[in-house]
Amino acid sequence: MNPEHPLVAIYPGSFDPVTLGHQDIARRTLSFADRTIVAVARRATHQKAPLFTLEERLEMLAEVFADEPRIECEAFDGLLVDFAHARGARFIIRGLRAVADFEYELQMAQMNRELSDQVETLFLIPDLAYSFLSASLVREVAGLGGDVSRFVSGPVLLRLRERVGT
Ligand code: PNS
Repeated sequence: MNPEHPLVAIYPGSFDPVTLGHQDIARRTLSFADRTIVAVARRATHQKAPLFTLEERLEMLAEVFADEPRIECEAFDGLLVDFAHARGARFIIRGLRAVADFEYELQMAQMNRELSDQVETLFLIPDLAYSFLSASLVREVAGLGGDVSRFVSGPVLLRLRERVGT
């Protein structure tokens, strides 16, 4: 690490809620980034009705990354590339699970490149154990009374149980 120019990565998303797959990707970034900002969008491109408020999502993120000082969690408004510039980040990180993710991710990466050529999008592949995992499936399964304890960490499981009443 060059202390004068730390390599900062931004890992953006909705994180509604953060899953073990997200946690895996965020921690993987630390093999090349000095610091990673997990950035929760106030307005996502494909906005769905959120299960958790922005504040709740940030609290859960802070809890699951409490052991890792190199990962910070923050909300952002407006364009992702503007937030990346404001934080001096060179890389946008996205997890790529399957071919199904590719089209949406490619579109976003290309649009972000049109908006700024100073930030590169990097795709990381999660551990195979999480290759099928998504926050939307976790919400659905938990909402229908299914066991999601293998897919989210303890603090998130507690909040899910409170929220969906299982
Ligand atoms: O977890 P998600 O919902 O797939 O994350 C999508 C997210 C938040 C990364 C994307 O919607 C985003 O960057 N939103 C911020 C607004 C923006 O910059 N839009 C243009 C991106 S092409």
